[in-house]
Amino acid sequence: TLTPTPADRFTFGLWTVGWQGRDPFGDATRPALDPVESVHRLAELGAYGVTFHDDDLIPFGSDAGTREGHIKRFRQALDATGMAVPMATTNLFTHPVFKDGAFTANDRDVRRFALRKTIRNIDLAAELGATTYVAWGGREGSESGAAKDVRVALDRLKEAFDLLGDYVEAQGYDIRFAIEPKPNEPRGDILLPTIGHALAFINSLEHADRVGLNPEVGHEQMAGLNFPHGIAQALWHGKLFHIDLNGQSGIKFDQDLRFGAGDLRQAFWLVDLLESSDYAGPRHFDFKPPRTEDINGVWASAAGNMRNYLALKAKAAAFRADPAVQAALRASRLHELAQPTLAEGESLADLLADPSAFESFDADAAAERGMAFEALDQLALDHLLGL
Ligand code: GCO
Ligand code: MN
Ligand code: MN
Ligand code: MN
Repeated sequence: TLTPTPADRFTFGLWTVGWQGRDPFGDATRPALDPVESVHRLAELGAYGVTFHDDDLIPFGSDAGTREGHIKRFRQALDATGMAVPMATTNLFTHPVFKDGAFTANDRDVRRFALRKTIRNIDLAAELGATTYVAWGGREGSESGAAKDVRVALDRLKEAFDLLGDYVEAQGYDIRFAIEPKPNEPRGDILLPTIGHALAFINSLEHADRVGLNPEVGHEQMAGLNFPHGIAQALWHGKLFHIDLNGQSGIKFDQDLRFGAGDLRQAFWLVDLLESSDYAGPRHFDFKPPRTEDINGVWASAAGNMRNYLALKAKAAAFRADPAVQAALRASRLHELAQPTLAEGESLADLLADPSAFESFDADAAAERGMAFEALDQLALDHLLGL
């Protein structure tokens, strides 16, 4: 059960295994990786598909002929391996032209270029069969107060998503957008920093039904937030369109560790949640094999993501099936949380007229009931530790 197959729907960004290890303090530690090689190696490891930024596949500024050549080689690799491309996205952050953002750059010509660059890659995404288009606005933000009028920038961000929605509808593409929140890095403060900010923003869009979320484990954890809770709320709103799985150890720079590294407990609850939800999309890894690794370490790291996901899936299933856990869940009254607070057919007036709800309610007695959560959580830890 720890050996991945395409049925597990594991996908990887080309930029993950392809990361050369360049960071703000040091040069690349690994040579460039040919996307064709990545497709073949990931297929051998049991992945279902790959995802890409336009520039991962076709270097920025390539002429039309060169572009077609890259696409053709990539297609051949997909055909040879049976790998899918369920998602694509735009690089709106590497080239210096995006130093002040893309859809919210103060410079209008940069915003127009960003839209054209995105639309060009949406066409390619549709041709390759992708149904999700991710938007990570890493450069949409600021380092100082007066530099960005946030309310006006949000107008421009809405304008961009409204136009992109108009475009995919006019083309008849089966594509939905997934916004990826992140609190900071590379900008000092990024717009739409968390799942919650992004959910609220989506409500104001013209094509709100077509726009959801691509939350990343580490990004919420960089803000000290509980990732499984964020995913649960995204699911509750029907907005979990895609997910970036990786690892992060607390509030610090974006680590992009392999899934299962970092906060293992949150990883366990996340898999428990995803596997019991109606989320049917890919399990997408957006990680960076640390720059200490050579190419063998890259593939070991890639394989580790899938192995850890499958291990946690088995642990979560065993946890839920354990009679001791089921008894502990009852002792903690989860079934009572599932009951509406008013009885069937009961009205607000009935509640107001019910003395047992207030006048004769014994708050002190109710306060004495223990919730038995510690015993429940220890069972989870016992399962996780294999005790
Ligand atoms: C990050 C982000 C990026 C985006 C990717 C999609 O680590 O800050 O995860 O990796 O997901 O670039 O645009
Ligand atoms: Mn990240
Ligand atoms: Mn990253
Ligand atoms: Mn990501």
